[in-house]
Amino acid sequence: MLMSRDLRATGLLVETMLIGGAWRGAGDGATLDVTDPATGAVIGTIPAAGAPEAEAAIAAAAEAFPAWRRRTADDRATLLEAWHRLILDHADTLAAIMTAEQGKPLAEAWGEIGYAASFVKWFAGEGRRIAGHMIPAPTTDRRILATREPVGVCAAITPWNFPAAMITRKVAPALAAGCTVVIKPSELTPYTALALGKLALRAGIPAGVVNIVTGLPQAIGAALTTSPVVRKLSFTGSTRVGALLMRQSADTLKRLSLELGGNAPFLVFDDADVDAAVAGAMASKFRNAGQTCVCANRLFVQDGIHDRFVAKLGEAVRALRVGDGRDEGVTVGPLINAAATTKVAEHVADALAKGARIAAAPDGATGDARFARPVVLIDATPDMRLASEETFGPVAPVFRFRDEAEAVALANATPFGLASYFYTNDLHRAWRVGEALEFGMVGLNTGALAMEMAPFGGIKASGLGREGGREGIDEYLETKAFHWGGLKGL
Ligand code: SIN
Repeated sequence: MLMSRDLRATGLLVETMLIGGAWRGAGDGATLDVTDPATGAVIGTIPAAGAPEAEAAIAAAAEAFPAWRRRTADDRATLLEAWHRLILDHADTLAAIMTAEQGKPLAEAWGEIGYAASFVKWFAGEGRRIAGHMIPAPTTDRRILATREPVGVCAAITPWNFPAAMITRKVAPALAAGCTVVIKPSELTPYTALALGKLALRAGIPAGVVNIVTGLPQAIGAALTTSPVVRKLSFTGSTRVGALLMRQSADTLKRLSLELGGNAPFLVFDDADVDAAVAGAMASKFRNAGQTCVCANRLFVQDGIHDRFVAKLGEAVRALRVGDGRDEGVTVGPLINAAATTKVAEHVADALAKGARIAAAPDGATGDARFARPVVLIDATPDMRLASEETFGPVAPVFRFRDEAEAVALANATPFGLASYFYTNDLHRAWRVGEALEFGMVGLNTGALAMEMAPFGGIKASGLGREGGREGIDEYLETKAFHWGGLKGL
């Protein structure tokens, strides 16, 4: 097991922040502790920065912007490819840092490093393909071009559940487009971000192009959202905070990408392959101990397949092993903090009080309040808290339904619209339900939707904009109409 002193010896566990290519502390020397969610032990400290440091980072990003945008797309892509290689070369260390600060099992952390790196490679390619177009003009002496230009200085406020991937999914397209960035990582998981910053510098990405400011969110968030120099903000987190950042950004009319909360339905129809549906539910529900915006929050299962599905899901859930993510064989790590485990316990208690029953849970409890016990609940009903709120934990509530119309109505009965999943082998139903689900992402016979080549994002209370895919780079580009008049001899 790598302890914090071993992690420090790797040179990638950095306890200062990155501004204009220099590693530094907060102006007043203030620090915050970062703790290991599996043990509660302090891993180290980070600068507790505020508005002055955020402003310094914005100024550094603004200074670096003109030279960075002038470089060729290929030049920028080559640097991103070098960063991609370094991330993969240091995957073991990055995964160990991530497990120490976030808690997810090492194998999952390792998977996330690969996932994070994939965005860097993907957007290096997309950056090379940014293209404008010519528009037929109304007179012969005029030419009109639509050109694409980088937005400018961008801010990225990233969450604790995916400490690496949520950074690269924002920063890689920004850099590929020619923007410079200020990152505010979660104060709960800053070390993965800082390690990525270190590797970015090692890859040759110039000073000031990537800046990282650590500390509590309020003051830094206010500086980033109210600055007229910052032209775009990308945020992943709760709908409440997303709406607050949107309000704060209003006076400077910033471009916004907001990847917010979800309440994903997971529908299993009678004609589904039950084993595939169980495998998909396990992948979607229990990844990162259920702490993902896209994880199945509500499982709707049709009468005819209900008991078989619940029996097989129960078997799979009983085989889960809860514990410290560094321990061999652990599949479910701790939740991020006490507030998270309390919320999960409250959701389960509320459901049980309203008539739900526990169908399965792994044997034994860890006896530690940092860990939530995975559980399958049956007889779930829409009046339960877990039907309308994101549980963000390893709880799989199963609701029964009779027919397709009822299932679609239940699935759509939420203000959120991020991810949705359904399992069927009926071709006609596949189209009908796929088109009827009001979500930014729909998975048919799969529990996995997040990958670099596909647009990721939501509608309604789940936010604005898309990350990944072809669309991901558009968020960092402006279109300029370039009119060229008075041309002679044409
Ligand atoms: C999230 O939970 O916000 C991201 C999940 C993912 O990328 O799979």
